[in-house]
Amino acid sequence: PKNVGILAVEIYFPPTCLQQEALEAHDGASKGKYTIGLGQDCMGFCTEVEDVISMSLTAVTSLLEKYAIDPKQIGRLEVGSETVIDKSKSIKTFLMQIFEKSGNTDIEGVDSTNACYGGTAALFNCVNWVESSSWDGRYGLVVCTDSAVYAEGAARPTGGAAAIAMLVGPDAPIVFESKIRASHMAHVYDFYKPILDSEYPVVDGKLSQTCYLMALDSCYKSLCNKYEKLEGKQFSIDDAAYFVFHSPYNKLVQKSTARLMFNDFTRNASSIDESTKEKLAPFSSLTGDESYQSRDLEKTSWQVAKPFYDEKVKPATLIPKQVGNMYTASLYAAFASLLHNKHSSLAGQRVVLFSYGSGLTATMFSLKLHEGQHPFNLSNIATVMNIEEKLKSRHEFTPENFIETMKIMEHRYGGKDFVTSKDCSLLAPGTYYLTEVDSKYRRFYAKK
Ligand code: ACO
Repeated sequence: PKNVGILAVEIYFPPTCLQQEALEAHDGASKGKYTIGLGQDCMGFCTEVEDVISMSLTAVTSLLEKYAIDPKQIGRLEVGSETVIDKSKSIKTFLMQIFEKSGNTDIEGVDSTNACYGGTAALFNCVNWVESSSWDGRYGLVVCTDSAVYAEGAARPTGGAAAIAMLVGPDAPIVFESKIRASHMAHVYDFYKPILDSEYPVVDGKLSQTCYLMALDSCYKSLCNKYEKLEGKQFSIDDAAYFVFHSPYNKLVQKSTARLMFNDFTRNASSIDESTKEKLAPFSSLTGDESYQSRDLEKTSWQVAKPFYDEKVKPATLIPKQVGNMYTASLYAAFASLLHNKHSSLAGQRVVLFSYGSGLTATMFSLKLHEGQHPFNLSNIATVMNIEEKLKSRHEFTPENFIETMKIMEHRYGGKDFVTSKDCSLLAPGTYYLTEVDSKYRRFYAKK
């Protein structure tokens, strides 16, 4: 098979959200801390009738319906998630309800987990399967689904929730440039979930920021080296039309952009003009460690990187700024934002993505975009996702209502023997929702 990649994308995020400005005021944070300091506008979250299983049921069903894909045509289904509902039974098995109905139980794949990276692992698995000798000619389907919730405190405004489904196969409009790819993996305790009866992570926020930026540097350097060996010429930020980042909060994406530019400066790449060289020159002798600590470098590199950000990064920030960190879905929600904003001019372009999962696992990889054939073409993908409408039709909660919801969810997490309110009045038609968890912890869902 040729041109293996992503054929179609569907995104679902809860219709319930909270303005960061309101949360900021409620928390007694200084004005602008969440909106400018973190760069976030709004945060989506699941209420007691939604979870990662219902969201992924909704995303998968919607993708199959909107692209008229017979469930029998799916030969591999992979899920990436770090939201643990069951320590053994995969989310993939819940999704099998959709496929069993049409008589298809012959579907490989299970769940992949490592913080926000599981979705990328799932996607690579599906692409590799289609490219392998075990491929049976059917489509792969990748689902990234997470509910990111934090205990009260500094990390709480960096929550979010979403599910994304991506159809994988040959002759795709979004093709993997599999040789242009580099990873960085290490053992670190920056963000982890050792408390098994709580949904909340243990997080060392500052360490996680540094780990993210170090992983970014390492992946970028390695990707540049591989490209140069392969193509016989230098790689720089000029060689991609867009850069898409895993987006825990927008400020970190801004810092990442500045960091890429600083990398090109230290590599003496052709992307760096004379005036930028002059501005960054005072930082050329910093050691790696010093460079992560230097506020002056951060300030100066952001100042020179701002036009690069506006042109090549900002188009991929819409959903992450509006919904928040969606963990495994964050990177692909950022990519979906790019498709939404730029679908008419993406054909022929290279897009570089950076996936990061704490703990840590990270990969930078390259995609080449083509217009594609209906229904698997860029503009149809944007139309089907209908992002503008989904964002517009959300309902804003007050911080008090949001906190009340978090309390109910804390209480319900890992629980049994309860029925939900079954109140689906805020959900769009076709949305799945949780109705009951019985005395044997079995979960039941209905479709609106
Ligand atoms: N106006 C404008 N900016 C402000 C204001 C204000 N009133 N007040 C503070 N700020 C800025 C700060 O200067 C800082 O910006 P800087 O980083 O450029 O210096 C920023 O707001 C954040 O404020 P801090 O006090 O530095 O950090 P805080 O204690 O709020 O914690 C953090 C932020 C660490 C991101 C926290 O939310 C967190 O732990 N989140 C979860 C971890 C995470 O997402 N890590 C990323 C990678 S791992 C993953 O994906 C889960």
